[in-house]
Amino acid sequence: RQIKTDDAHDPGLLSFDPAFTATASCRSAITYIDGDAGVLRYRGYPIDTLAENSSFLEVAYLLMNGDLPNADQLSEFEHTITHHTFVHQNVKKFMEGFHHDAHPMGMLVGTLGALSTFYPEAKNFREPLNRRLQMARLIAKIPTLAAYASRHARGLPYVYPDNDLSYAGNFLSMMWKMSEPKYDPDPILEKALDVLLILHADHEQNCSTNAMRAVGSSHVDPYSAAAAATAALYGPLHGGANEQVLKMLREIGDVKQIPSYVDRVKKGEFRLMGFGHRVYKNYDPRARVVRQIAEDVFKVTGLNPLLEVAVELERIALEDEYFVKKKLYPNVDFYTGIIYEAMGFPAEMFTVLFAIGRMPGWLAQWEEGLLDAEQKIARPRQLYTGHAERAYPPLNDRP
Ligand code: ACO
Repeated sequence: RQIKTDDAHDPGLLSFDPAFTATASCRSAITYIDGDAGVLRYRGYPIDTLAENSSFLEVAYLLMNGDLPNADQLSEFEHTITHHTFVHQNVKKFMEGFHHDAHPMGMLVGTLGALSTFYPEAKNFREPLNRRLQMARLIAKIPTLAAYASRHARGLPYVYPDNDLSYAGNFLSMMWKMSEPKYDPDPILEKALDVLLILHADHEQNCSTNAMRAVGSSHVDPYSAAAAATAALYGPLHGGANEQVLKMLREIGDVKQIPSYVDRVKKGEFRLMGFGHRVYKNYDPRARVVRQIAEDVFKVTGLNPLLEVAVELERIALEDEYFVKKKLYPNVDFYTGIIYEAMGFPAEMFTVLFAIGRMPGWLAQWEEGLLDAEQKIARPRQLYTGHAERAYPPLNDRP
């Protein structure tokens, strides 16, 4: 809606678009989505091609630099990331200070923000090498913080990064290693996790990326902006949905319960978690790849009994007029939770895994915003609906 205003400070015409459904908040050359056709491309490459052929760090390089790396560039980038996986010893003290049952997303938001105090030079991010160093640190350290948060909740000692392992392999080691000398990740699970990270690496102006850009537009350091993005991701309507999907599948419990559950959704009692998307009005292309990964993972871990419930729920929903009419399809989160659970991750870690994958996208978008000369501080206007000027009543005269 376009609204004429009579406020002297207004430009005269305002668009009222509270959830940005029809407003481009920025220009971007990073990720392309055609929601009607179910297309997702990073820097021009279809998501399924990248999932099949690239590693997560290769995709991170692509998002941040615009082109795929050659062999030398990739090996230098991998070396840089590996070099920064350790966190300052005092970060452990932050972790230890959290309550034993603290949610790992809360711990991640707190410790990512705290990193800004360890790297005060990060505020000079206009200098390209300095900026790239902070970006590498964030990609390198988020798995370490994430694994520490999980081990804290499980009452286990922290495991230092193993820089001989791949990005995904090292994360699995920090999560699950119980004895010396080394953790040997299962190659199928390591590959599956790497691909899941690729699928989550960017998704244009989603809620958390918008938070990263908006907070970053105040020229705060990238650690603080990444903490804000992580907080946005935490919500159940965004990254928190994968955790909610698993809760929902457990609550349904048995395929026989699906029809009555779907009826309650249709009555508006609650939403079908992992279904629907602001942009996709077709099958989410990431959800297709996730289904393939599920098959690989279950060959190693054994079948997750909730898979049967999920498959049947999808089938029933996709044939139901309510979902068809509203163009509600499974999104990326519908199957990821079942896979993560089969891999042994506690449900509270699902959104954390999403955050690890999304970090390169947040950073690429943050940098793109900073380098865009027309990108000013994000500062939307409002439609004021409150009182006109009122006379101030003394305390004793108030009703
Ligand atoms: N279950 C049932 N009905 C739904 C669902 C759902 N999951 N999603 C949307 N609808 C219905 C709404 O009730 C609404 O109906 P109405 O027009 O009769 O009022 C209509 O579809 C449109 O929904 P909106 O909320 O207007 O759509 P919006 O684009 O704002 O929301 C969102 C998108 C938040 C993803 C929504 O589909 C949802 O809540 N899904 C469940 C949570 C989820 O899976 N989130 C993960 C998103 S993907 C990600 O972050 C990686």
